[in-house]
Amino acid sequence: MTISLEALRRCSIAVDLGAARTRVYLRRTGLIVDEPTVAAVNTRTGGLIAVGTPAERMTGRTPAHIRVVRPVSNGTVVDIAMAQRMLRLLLGDKLRRAWRRRPLVSAAVCVPHDAHPLTERAAVETLTGIGARRVELVDSLIAAAVGCGLPVEQPEATLIVVCGAATTQVAVLSLGSIVAAERVPVGGDTVDHALVQLLRNEHALMLPSQAVRPLHLVLRDDAPAGGTEVHGRDVATGLARSVRIDVEGVRTAVRTPLTGVVDAIGTVLRRCPPDLVADLADRGIMLAGGSAVLPGFDTMLREATGMPVQIADHPDVCAVEGLGAMLDGKVQPLVLDAMVS
Ligand SMILES: Nc1ncnc2c1ncn2[C@@H]1O[C@H](COP(=O)(O)OP(=O)(O)OP(=O)(O)O)[C@@H](O)[C@H]1O
Ligand SMILES: [Mg+2]
Repeated sequence: MTISLEALRRCSIAVDLGAARTRVYLRRTGLIVDEPTVAAVNTRTGGLIAVGTPAERMTGRTPAHIRVVRPVSNGTVVDIAMAQRMLRLLLGDKLRRAWRRRPLVSAAVCVPHDAHPLTERAAVETLTGIGARRVELVDSLIAAAVGCGLPVEQPEATLIVVCGAATTQVAVLSLGSIVAAERVPVGGDTVDHALVQLLRNEHALMLPSQAVRPLHLVLRDDAPAGGTEVHGRDVATGLARSVRIDVEGVRTAVRTPLTGVVDAIGTVLRRCPPDLVADLADRGIMLAGGSAVLPGFDTMLREATGMPVQIADHPDVCAVEGLGAMLDGKVQPLVLDAMVS
């Protein structure tokens, strides 16, 4: 189904419900929410204890009666009621004020490219449940491309790779449409999981996945030689122990899941007409999504594809910023194919 920018200009908020973070853009105002997609619930009373950053900090540190939940998984709202409660709290007064000014409000939401109809329905239900009268669904690849400042409406090819927490989407766009796209279940969380496995299998050390982020730093060009020390729990004895991890070990562990992204780029390029692929040889790849800043990821893509790779200015927020630009009328009028409503 195709919708025009007109429908989007009637929306007052743009929402990107990611597996890791929830972002909300208020029309003519900008980003008003950028918080972890996490809620902490008291299982005895059913009450919500915290959402966003405070809830994320509780992960792995809660007593038995508190459960930390993530209502979005792989680009799909899997717990609609929880997502609505989380959004209501995150938006708080900001939403109430916007709703009061214009009660019959419409909302725009990003959904992954080729999202399943149930994913689309879950996104619509989540927003209607918090008061939106109409919900426009937008392909997150187009929103991200607009947010990165790519000239999507031009008859030239642009290649975008959006690497989030749970999924990576790759697309070639031209004339406001997606020419070819691919989605792979690889993202920042997959990389962290690979590092947890490395520590467990090769060093008999247990660490939660949110604690392996310092290991990314050894991949930086300016990282000191000799690797880094990590502290965790010995798998056998259960006691605290430290090990020194060398750079090569981390590089190999990180590289394995990321080869899925390189394969997806190859698949997308093979599906494109040769003229468009020729455009891309000069223009290269635009890397977006929160995981775009993973040290060495851009170099790895450059070496694997032989194409220039550029990291977007604000890679983590480009999808919601792109959607916001459409709401604010800052995007050239064009009929955006691959959008659904
Ligand atoms: N500085 C950083 N270094 C490495 N990884 C990072 C950094 N900052 C964020 N990330 C990773 O980026 C991911 C979050 O990216 P993003 O905010 O795009 O996800 P999302 O939109 O919520 O997820 P998805 O689009 O997959 O539903 C996390 O896995 C996080 O580990
Ligand atoms: Mg995302």
